[in-house]
Amino acid sequence: MENFDVCVLGGGPAGYVSALKSAINGLSVAIIEKDRFGGTCLNRGCIPTKILYSKAKYLSRLKAPEHGFIVDEFSFNYGEIIDYKDEVVLTLTGGVEKLLKARKVKIFYGFGRVAGSDDNGFRLGIALNEYSADKNIEEAQISAKNLIIATGSSPLMISSFNIDHKSIITSDEALSLREIPKSLIIIGGGVIGCEFANIFSEFGSNVKIIELLPSILSTEDAEISKFTRKAFKSRNIDITNGAEVDSIAPAAANGKAAVTLKSGEIFEADKVIVSIGRRLNIAGLGLEDTGIKMTERGRIKVDSRNETSIKGAYACGDIIDGPMLAHKASFDGIIAADNIAGINREKNYDVLPWSIYTNPPIGTVGLKEGDDGLPLNYNTGRFSYAANGMALAMEEKEGFLKVLVEEKSKKIIGATGVGADIPELIAEIASHMHYGGTIFDIESTIHSHPTLSEIVPESALDSIGEAIHKFNSRAAKKHR
Ligand code: NAI
Repeated sequence: MENFDVCVLGGGPAGYVSALKSAINGLSVAIIEKDRFGGTCLNRGCIPTKILYSKAKYLSRLKAPEHGFIVDEFSFNYGEIIDYKDEVVLTLTGGVEKLLKARKVKIFYGFGRVAGSDDNGFRLGIALNEYSADKNIEEAQISAKNLIIATGSSPLMISSFNIDHKSIITSDEALSLREIPKSLIIIGGGVIGCEFANIFSEFGSNVKIIELLPSILSTEDAEISKFTRKAFKSRNIDITNGAEVDSIAPAAANGKAAVTLKSGEIFEADKVIVSIGRRLNIAGLGLEDTGIKMTERGRIKVDSRNETSIKGAYACGDIIDGPMLAHKASFDGIIAADNIAGINREKNYDVLPWSIYTNPPIGTVGLKEGDDGLPLNYNTGRFSYAANGMALAMEEKEGFLKVLVEEKSKKIIGATGVGADIPELIAEIASHMHYGGTIFDIESTIHSHPTLSEIVPESALDSIGEAIHKFNSRAAKKHR
């Protein structure tokens, strides 16, 4: 039986990054993946949605051209856009495979499970599949001193929602539709629901969001959620909040699926996307027999080094606690790989940025107003895109950036905003936060002119009433 220092189960952003990092650390590595590399992010998430997002944005420009342009006529072929998306996904997933091979990581294509463990490590059984290079072998057995579990998550299914993958679909199928549905109901106004509402409404679908809670994007800052709601409404996206879905019936003779709410109301549409959260890919992994402990939220329990309750077994990504984000998963993978290699590292998610690609996009890092962890006294600073020269040049005047500053130390404790390229502005703030930066560190950082990045120092200085290009810059002190 072939033996490795490390075996990684799952080839998404957590798994493949931990495999590469382990190889970089000089260890012998095997990785088991049942699909193409890249996981949800590359195949069915971040990247394909961003391709459609980018095309939808282009379309919005054609519909409302910039000053001085007249677009008499235009059309699009959505099938060709999907072909392009598939091409990019193949390039990127193939790129990951090439990177793994270049680092001499041994690849097993198939479904892997933990077949046993003892003081020397772990035994893994792999049911090889059609992607496997060796077509003559159906099963492989390997052993490894260390195990990294990174099997990720899939869309949550509820039996009464009757997901038939035809008229009632998840985000997975929504990315491969070759035609735009005339009418579309999205169940769940969270991150996935809102990103799809943005894309399909731009391409001409009549979109309705049904959300259980009183607001869409309820985990975001209340102002951001309100801003997005208003932007959606102006594009005729219908939003029903505080509505609990009772059941969904697949397309009947009239070709429409029907959503019945607990209130008795019924809504019909050509397609229904169910995006109400995700479940863990844990079934069949053989973890029950290993004694690995789980958290209260039902995810694999790990310590700050990402080691599970079993010595030598690590877990990363969606399968452990924390937000289900690709970059958090990759970060987890690096922490696990380094600890296996004896480089002692502890994780800290205090400075974890994230982005939501509605139009305009949303970006956040650190604490938000309303969060439990806020200090007793803090100030907020705010700056609008409408007062930034580059934003006006780009005809992107919608949006703002809000920065939260600890009152005494003047350290940045969080930031959130909505507007063109805001995720890039948030990246700069994340760097300052990582080094414990204050608003004066941001002020001392020279920002190129003209750029959207000038919004960052202006927002930071507005927290003490000293924004240069703001008429009413006043310190706004807040108490938690
Ligand atoms: P989510 O948890 O963000 O949103 C689900 C929404 O569905 C919630 O607002 C919830 O109240 C609502 N809901 C739940 N049950 C419902 C019901 N029966 N009827 C109506 N509404 C109901 O989950 P989502 O959007 O599926 O995303 C899953 C994960 O993927 C998230 O953790 C997110 O962080 C991650 N993700 C991140 C992206 C990014 O960073 N840009 C993009 C897409 C996903």
